[in-house]
Amino acid sequence: MDFAPELLRMNDGKLLTGAEGWAKRRAEILEILDRECYGRMPGAPAKTEGVVESVDEKCCAGHAKLERITLSFDTPAGPFSFPINFFNPTKAGPHPVIVLLNFRPDAYDRYYPAEEIIDRGYALAVIYYQDVATDDGDFSKGLAACFPRTNPAEDWGKLSMWAYGASRAVDYLLTRPETDAKNIAVIGHSRLGKAAMICGAHDERIRFTVSNDSGCGGAAMNRTWHEGAETIAVMDRVFPFWFCRNRAKYKESAADMPFDQHFLAACCAPRFLVIGSAEQDLWADPLSEQYTAYAASPAWRLFGLRGFMGGSEPFHAGEKNLDGEVGYHKRDGVHFLSRQDWLVYMAFFEKHRG
Ligand code: GCU
Repeated sequence: MDFAPELLRMNDGKLLTGAEGWAKRRAEILEILDRECYGRMPGAPAKTEGVVESVDEKCCAGHAKLERITLSFDTPAGPFSFPINFFNPTKAGPHPVIVLLNFRPDAYDRYYPAEEIIDRGYALAVIYYQDVATDDGDFSKGLAACFPRTNPAEDWGKLSMWAYGASRAVDYLLTRPETDAKNIAVIGHSRLGKAAMICGAHDERIRFTVSNDSGCGGAAMNRTWHEGAETIAVMDRVFPFWFCRNRAKYKESAADMPFDQHFLAACCAPRFLVIGSAEQDLWADPLSEQYTAYAASPAWRLFGLRGFMGGSEPFHAGEKNLDGEVGYHKRDGVHFLSRQDWLVYMAFFEKHRG
């Protein structure tokens, strides 16, 4: 199967055939995505500091400490801060670290099996996404208020702000001696799966990017839309603030987009990406999510790597392929970030750890 637009066709029309040109092509792709879809993400601050506010010394059966940390960094409007919950294994490090963008502020939550993650040897940093930016059209609060908005067509949307917040957590975690800097993962579910992909696409310090049920604007190809799935037009009515305004240009015709979601996925190359879908989650368009894994893979092949090894024939529930640098799994059930999803993602990390 062929997917448009051609991933490796440079803006000047030349076809990329070797890894030497990838940095340039990746920069072109990020520019297209920033301008036409997610909005322009500001550069990283000079530094991100963390203050440990309190510690629960014995969480997860005493296998971890739960640290509540306030992160702060400079912005054009002055310092900005937000809290994270950091589950830090008591066993000696360094530990691979997973950064989770999550929906609720509570330290224990149905979207992550904290104990199981800790017992498999990971540290886990959890961000409540609305501590970074509210999930609405209000740009006068939080991180949204910290950067000038001068060009609505290209000003960044909320998804990119949540992604930026995850990268600031990475800044801080890299200052902690317990962190295994080579093995950092970012994960999110649904809208936060879209944000996790944006984060992993931009931030080359992240080895593993995980998209769980992210669907439209995340891992689902727009051009291969299937019945029952979300569309750009619907999203533009309900969640226009997640993106820059330019994206609405394509709501009548995805075929006119100068990109598709395999561009976003490919920006993780030659690092690692794993995409998960749920069989009954038709809104997120599971097959179009598998297509993204497949269609992004030529970027990995430039490096002599494999990309996605599962092909483009539709997976059935329970099927997965984690062999290459791009993994995909489809579980049974509905839209959720489940324990079963986590087990697949941790297996992927363990197969490909640096
Ligand atoms: C809505 C939205 C999706 C999004 C989801 C979620 O269903 O249409 O795009 O992924 O919310 O974040 O739960």
